Amino acid sequence: DRAEREASFEELIAADQRIEPRDAMPEAYRRTLVRQIAQHAHSEIIGMQPEGAWITRAPSLRRKAILVAKVQDEAGHGMYLYSAAETLGVDRGELLEMLHEGKQKYSSIFNYPTLTWADCGAIGWLVDGAAIMNQVPLCRCSYGPYARAMIRVCKEESFHQRQGFEILWTLMRGTPAQQQMAQDAVDRWWWPALMMFGPHDSGEAASNGHTAQSMAWGIKRFSNDDLRQRFVDMMVQQADRLGVRIPDPDLRWDEERQQHDFGAIDWSEFKAVLAGDGACNAERIAHRRRAHDDGAWVREAALAHARKHEARQQV
Ligand code: 3HC
Repeated sequence: DRAEREASFEELIAADQRIEPRDAMPEAYRRTLVRQIAQHAHSEIIGMQPEGAWITRAPSLRRKAILVAKVQDEAGHGMYLYSAAETLGVDRGELLEMLHEGKQKYSSIFNYPTLTWADCGAIGWLVDGAAIMNQVPLCRCSYGPYARAMIRVCKEESFHQRQGFEILWTLMRGTPAQQQMAQDAVDRWWWPALMMFGPHDSGEAASNGHTAQSMAWGIKRFSNDDLRQRFVDMMVQQADRLGVRIPDPDLRWDEERQQHDFGAIDWSEFKAVLAGDGACNAERIAHRRRAHDDGAWVREAALAHARKHEARQQV
């Protein structure tokens, strides 16, 4: 009965076991996963746009081929995640409708413009770097389908980050103008990348967030600030190798903590972007709606084919 089913859920979570689609789960657990997985999937497909804008303008065939592969990967990540969400009883068409109508979010980071080619380097290095930091722990998420989707995503994500690092590496060993372009991109993407980890865990900038409950349920393995701190510590070393400057005058090594202190994040910018006032919010959703409408014939054809195939099976 219900009490027993709830007990088994608690036992599985307490034993750090996986919850599978057919297992009993509290409605709030299911709703939290639908919210997070849907927003994650939306982030992947909206995230195709910033770099997608540079495919026709990549500086070489090699760079174009790499960028096409990366943008295609992001579409695939979206597909794995919409599929994982569907194991919770929602339909991807509904989720996309909610995205189009602003009822579900995508990551704030994708509302920033890609002004130069160097932005493709900064996105790969910083945005995919932050995504990896956040997604590796999700491979151990308590919900089976989400954790398994993350394993493949993380493998592809590390290629994304490495190609971004290599773009900046090349630019930083180029002309002064190329070095300036790389530094300008890092200046514009550094702080928005820190915001990807979500609001602070405590203090005035904390939101009445989901972290405590998500950690109790084994969805989140680390807090937002923990992952952000690891990201900063890792990126400072890589920035030194690249020769780019991190745009934070308060950044300094704390010998005792063995971590970096860093400056205050502008949460008013974060809130403005989430409220729809980012540089590209309207453009991203308009592009998404257009792509959805332009792709309707593909969905209709696939459904017609599936129906014909099913009918043949029944003969
Ligand atoms: N952008 C938009 N919304 C954000 C956000 C961001 N950067 N950070 C937090 N939020 C929202 C949360 O969704 C929540 O709002 P909601 O209740 O309306 O959903 C609110 O701010 C409070 O934040 P919490 O930290 O309490 O919320 P979560 O527990 O959901 O944690 C998260 C936020 C860490 C982003 C978590 O949802 C998560 O780990 N999501 C999965 C990873 C993900 O979505 N990454 C986004 C980028 S994907 C990507 O970069 C693809 C790569 O290939 C480029």
